[in-house]
Amino acid sequence: MKGIILAGGLGKRLYPLTRITNKHLLPVYDKPMIYYPIEMLIKADVKEIMIVTGGNNAGDFLRLLGNGREFGLKGLHYAYQEGEGGIADALKQARDFVGDDKMVVALGDNIIEKDIKEYVDKFKKQKKGAKLILKKVKNPKEYGVAVIKGKKIIKIEEKPQKPKSKLAVIGIYFYPSDVFEIIDKLKPSERGELEITDVNNEYIKRGEITYEILKGWWMDCGESKDALLKANLHLWKNKNKKENSN
Ligand code: DAU
Repeated sequence: MKGIILAGGLGKRLYPLTRITNKHLLPVYDKPMIYYPIEMLIKADVKEIMIVTGGNNAGDFLRLLGNGREFGLKGLHYAYQEGEGGIADALKQARDFVGDDKMVVALGDNIIEKDIKEYVDKFKKQKKGAKLILKKVKNPKEYGVAVIKGKKIIKIEEKPQKPKSKLAVIGIYFYPSDVFEIIDKLKPSERGELEITDVNNEYIKRGEITYEILKGWWMDCGESKDALLKANLHLWKNKNKKENSN
């Protein structure tokens, strides 16, 4: 199982914080944002990891993370995305690294507290298709939203004006290697990006998708400056709680 962390894009919703640096290098409580998805993957026993980034700060990732020894890794892999062509375009850069393996794809600005090992293990046993993680939210308009019928996802709608559920698709996706063939056939959306939601809708069309509902805390730190601040406060409070209960 390969792990891919997507850390490109412009992070425009966080301007001016991200005008001269990459969003994923910003601090979230006591470490840079990119540390969280790396640690999440390692905890789930996914230790072959590629970071995909782009723009002017790609070199800073190397300076910060090097070969991943600080995390106990044997090495880290890097790929460079030219431009900001979307999440699916960023994932495309990992094709050779993944080969015929399965993969877990983490959006570099998403932080979750729960150990995802249980999902990784379930996905290892899944014979076909993709797996998504959903989370009930108050503000579904900001995310990809799952339309559910019975127990089935029948569609994902990207940032809908009138969301049909409160279930957001969070930024941890499980795919088999045929995801790259799906990406090859994608057309850019109205905003000029190859959308991960179009990839997920293709798996839904094929009847090859499973999902889990995340129970613990999750934050998309890139959603707004408020979300970034909330993530800082939550992690700080939780650490204090843990220290006080010891
Ligand atoms: O956070 C979950 C949401 O993430 C999902 O609910 C949405 O369906 C999904 O489209 C995505 O929405 P965002 O608007 O939050 O995506 P954003 O543009 O912030 O990009 C998410 C991550 O992907 C971010 O960490 C940077 C990376 N990225 C993004 C783009 C556009 C790249 O590596 N390259 C890119 O070209």
